[in-house]
Amino acid sequence: MKGIVLSGGSGTRLYPMTRAANKQLLPVYNKPMVYYPLTTLMLAGCREILLVVNPADEESYRRLFGDGKQWGLEIRYAVQPKPGGIAEVFLVGRDFVAKDRVGLILGDNLFYGDSLPAVAERGAMGSGAMIYAYWVSDPSAYGVVEFDAAGQPISIVEKPKEPKSNWAVTGLYFYDADVCDVAAHIPRSARGELEISDVNAHYLKQGRLTVEKLGRGYAWLDTGTPSSLLRAAQFVETVEDRQGLQIGSPEEVAWRKGYIDDAGMEKLIQPIRDSEYGKYLQRLLARG
Ligand code: DAU
Repeated sequence: MKGIVLSGGSGTRLYPMTRAANKQLLPVYNKPMVYYPLTTLMLAGCREILLVVNPADEESYRRLFGDGKQWGLEIRYAVQPKPGGIAEVFLVGRDFVAKDRVGLILGDNLFYGDSLPAVAERGAMGSGAMIYAYWVSDPSAYGVVEFDAAGQPISIVEKPKEPKSNWAVTGLYFYDADVCDVAAHIPRSARGELEISDVNAHYLKQGRLTVEKLGRGYAWLDTGTPSSLLRAAQFVETVEDRQGLQIGSPEEVAWRKGYIDDAGMEKLIQPIRDSEYGKYLQRLLARG
């Protein structure tokens, strides 16, 4: 299964933190932000990953992830020349997608929940387009889905002034290979972007969109403003401290899913033995 992590953008709402550093490389508690969405895709079964990044940040991402082999992945990179909308990933990623079904996750989205792997796997195995909706108190900052009385989606609008529901569209999407053609044919929005909501609305019109609601047992966190970034960090710290288990560790997911064996994990631990993170991975390995 193929997956794309969109990790570009200008991060203006986090300025000046993002003046010299890409937003998705900022820490959420104890890991770079991008670790969380990457592991969500890994849990969905994606092992061929495309990272879409800004030209100035490609080198940093390559330093962070390399070719992905250390985690049993195949990671490639594509550059988005400037932030022209989320749906642009399907123009810069067309060769990567080729004729396959593909997952897309936004590099600033943090998901947490017990059944998340099963939910994401359903998206990966499904047909047409599959997106996820989450109930939020203020939906106007998001794509918003409206459902009819039978629970079927009837409209998707990007950042509506008067939202038709509280169901926000999350930053995790699965599409068939047609998505590259769909993205190539939608017009740019008033803000000059190729909107992912227009892609989803297109699939909806064709009757090929499934919207799965993520219930109250999930956390879907935003990291777009200084306070939401802090709240996300506090959430991760609270859960990790209580459970003694980490959220969003690619090493752990790779090892648990069998993408790497004990020897592979040991090799990853060696250079970071003395860090808290290294000690955590050692404990996992020792417990078996
Ligand atoms: O988080 C979910 C929301 O994400 C959805 O509900 C919306 O429908 C969707 O449009 C998007 O809204 P945002 O306003 O949050 O998108 P933002 O511009 O903040 O970009 C989201 C991420 O994608 C961010 O990490 C930066 C990256 N990005 C964004 C754009 C527009 C890129 O890498 N390139 C881009 O051109």
